[in-house]
Amino acid sequence: MAEQSRKSGSINPEKPKDMVPIYIMGKRYFVPKTLTIMKAIEYAGYQLKRGAGCRAGFCGACGTVYRTPDSYKIKVGLACQTVVEPEMYIAQLPFYPAVKKTYNIEEMEPTAEAVLGIYPEVARCVACNTCTKVCPQELEVMDYIQETLHGNLDKVADLSFDCVMCGLCVSRCPAEIQHPFVAILVRRLYNHHLVPRSQQLAKRVKEVEEGKYDAEIKWLKSLPLEKLKKLYSTRPREGDPGVELKDNKIDWNDEVKFDYSGTNR
Ligand code: SF4
Ligand code: SF4
Ligand code: FES
Repeated sequence: MAEQSRKSGSINPEKPKDMVPIYIMGKRYFVPKTLTIMKAIEYAGYQLKRGAGCRAGFCGACGTVYRTPDSYKIKVGLACQTVVEPEMYIAQLPFYPAVKKTYNIEEMEPTAEAVLGIYPEVARCVACNTCTKVCPQELEVMDYIQETLHGNLDKVADLSFDCVMCGLCVSRCPAEIQHPFVAILVRRLYNHHLVPRSQQLAKRVKEVEEGKYDAEIKWLKSLPLEKLKKLYSTRPREGDPGVELKDNKIDWNDEVKFDYSGTNR
């Protein structure tokens, strides 16, 4: 986070209407009360070079810790999703160190022992639940660590599915567990070894590899952008009322049709 020159009026000694005071790395700024922490930091004149990615709550790059005067507790949130509070003290955690282990999923068994072989510290969990309290996604983090220990990989995959890998749980764990990396290993094992293969997907991949859709892809690539956008937004989707698969394909809408022989009709 680098401080840049501020626009006139973005920092004020008096409290203007609809502005709230916040502390960024210990320095006081007034910012509009409707801003997220991320926008407030930028409003105050900082340029985010780390700790910002999707700006939409998905990438987990913007883990932030803060305190407010009404509580002794350390609070956490994603900077792109959390709205500023008056007198909040903010510190961003652009990156929390974690060591990514390497492994070969195909050679591993989908068991607790296999996970512990890679991340033995999982066995040190003391069930304090701090990881759950700190998770901005409100995941049951301790539960997925405990389910890992019990070898219930399906439950771990389910409980950890919405993890954005922000690392805030790692920052607070007294057992020094790297929760998001444990969870992603388990989801890989689960999906590779335990989830039944999708027959439809396998068939479709084979068809793509055999060139069944080459002409259609060529046709799509030849369309003007506006037509392509309209086609995309009005396309029938599997599961829509009245839409049926014919020969494992969905018919395009009436306005633009493709007859699979390569001719736009
Ligand atoms: S913070 Fe660490 S020790 Fe505490 S419950 Fe979570 S994984 Fe276990
Ligand atoms: S489980 Fe940990 S890394 Fe994943 S979203 Fe929650 S706090 Fe972030
Ligand atoms: S910037 Fe991606 S989650 Fe906040």
